Amino acid sequence: MKNLSFFRKTMADAATIKKIEEGFEKLQNAKDCHSLLKKYLTKEVKDQLKDKKTKLGATLLDVIQSGVANLDSGVGVYAPDAEAYTLFKPLFDPLIKDYHNGFAANQKQPATDLGEGKTSQLADLDPEGKYINSTRIRCGRSLQGYPFNPCLTEANYVEMEGKVKKVFAELKDGELQGTYYPLDGMTKEVQTQLIQDHFLFKEGDRFLQAANACRYWPKGRGIYHNKDKTFLVWVNEEDHLRIISMQQGGNVGKVLERLIKGVKTIQAQAPFSRDERLGWLTFCPSNLGTTVRASVHIKLPKISARPDFKKICDDLKLQIRGIHGEHSDSVGGVYDISNKARLGLTEFEAVKQMYDGVKHLIELEKKA
Ligand code: ADP
Ligand code: ARG
Repeated sequence: MKNLSFFRKTMADAATIKKIEEGFEKLQNAKDCHSLLKKYLTKEVKDQLKDKKTKLGATLLDVIQSGVANLDSGVGVYAPDAEAYTLFKPLFDPLIKDYHNGFAANQKQPATDLGEGKTSQLADLDPEGKYINSTRIRCGRSLQGYPFNPCLTEANYVEMEGKVKKVFAELKDGELQGTYYPLDGMTKEVQTQLIQDHFLFKEGDRFLQAANACRYWPKGRGIYHNKDKTFLVWVNEEDHLRIISMQQGGNVGKVLERLIKGVKTIQAQAPFSRDERLGWLTFCPSNLGTTVRASVHIKLPKISARPDFKKICDDLKLQIRGIHGEHSDSVGGVYDISNKARLGLTEFEAVKQMYDGVKHLIELEKKA
C-alpha cells in the first residue's frame, strides 16, 4: 500500500488542480483565443493529466500557465523539464505535430546535419543588396543535468553561467573570439542599444514571465559576442543557450558556416540534452529538434502588400515576424522571414527551407 506522502510527491495538490480547472474554463470561454494550447487541451486531455507531477515536481499548470495568462499566445505551452514532454504527451504530441509540419507521435528527429561541406549550395540570396538587410541563424541548446527555467534555482543559474563562461574562454578562433557580458551590471543604455540593434534578447517578455521563466532576473543571464557581433550566444534567457550567427546582407552560406564552427566548438566542451525522438531539447515545443531558426530581414514592398502574402509564406513553410522579432510589427516594410518547422528535418534542411522560400519570394517580387 502506498502511503500519503508518496501521493503528495507524485500527484498535483488540490490547489494546483483547481487552478488547472480555472485555466481550462478561461480558455473555453475565450472566443478570441487561437492558441495551440486551447486547440489541444480538450476536457479529456485535461482530466487525464491534471493530477500528474514530474519527478522535479512540475505539473500541468506549469505547462499551460503562460497560454492561460496570455490568450493571444500562438503556442501557449512550455515544458518545465525534459520529463514533461513524456508525462504530458497527450497534450504535447498533437500540438507538436500541428506546429512542426505533421511530425507524428511515431516519428523521430533525424541525426544532426548542420550542413558542413554543403554551404556552397547557399549562394548569396541578394548579391545586389536590393532586398535583404541582414541574415541570422540561431539554434538553442540545453545543458545536460539541468531542467528548464521554472525548475531552476538561483544557484543553478549562477552555476550554469559559470560553466558556460569557461566554455567561452576556449573560443579562441579569430572569428568566434569575444567577451561575455553579464546582464547583471550592464547599463540600461548598453542593454537598450543591444536590443534595438537586434543583438540581445528583450526584457520582460510576458509569455516567459507567465511561464515562471524570469525568476532571479538578471542573475545568470548574459550575452557573449565577438567584436563584430556576428557570433553571439545568449545565456539563460528562454533556453540555457541560444547560439547565433548573423551579418548584414544575404550570404546565408557564410552565416551558416560561422554557426557550424561555433556550435561544434561549444559542443566539444559542453554536453547538451538530446532526446531520441525530439532531438535537441528546448523549453518551448516550437523549438525542438534542430532548434534552428534561419531568418532574413527583408523588404518586399510589392508582394508584402498583397492580401495573400501570409498564405504565400505559409505555403512555402515560412513564418513572418516583425522587425523586433516575435510578437513585434514590421517597421518600414521590413519583415523577418524564417523557416517555421524545426523538428522532423535536419538543421541543413531547415536552413534550406528558408533559403528556397526566400529565393522564391524575391523572384515573385521581381515579377510583380
Ligand atoms: P529568436 O529568433 O531567438 O527566436 P526573436 O524572434 O525574438 O527570437 O528575435 C530575436 C532578435 O533577433 C530580434 O531582435 C530580431 O529582430 C533579431 N533578428 C531576427 N532575425 C534577424 C535578421 N535576419 N537580421 C537581424 N536581426 C534579426
Ligand atoms: N509562448 C509564446 C506564444 O505562444 C511563444 C511561442 C513560440 N516562441 C518562443 N519564443 N518559444 O505565442
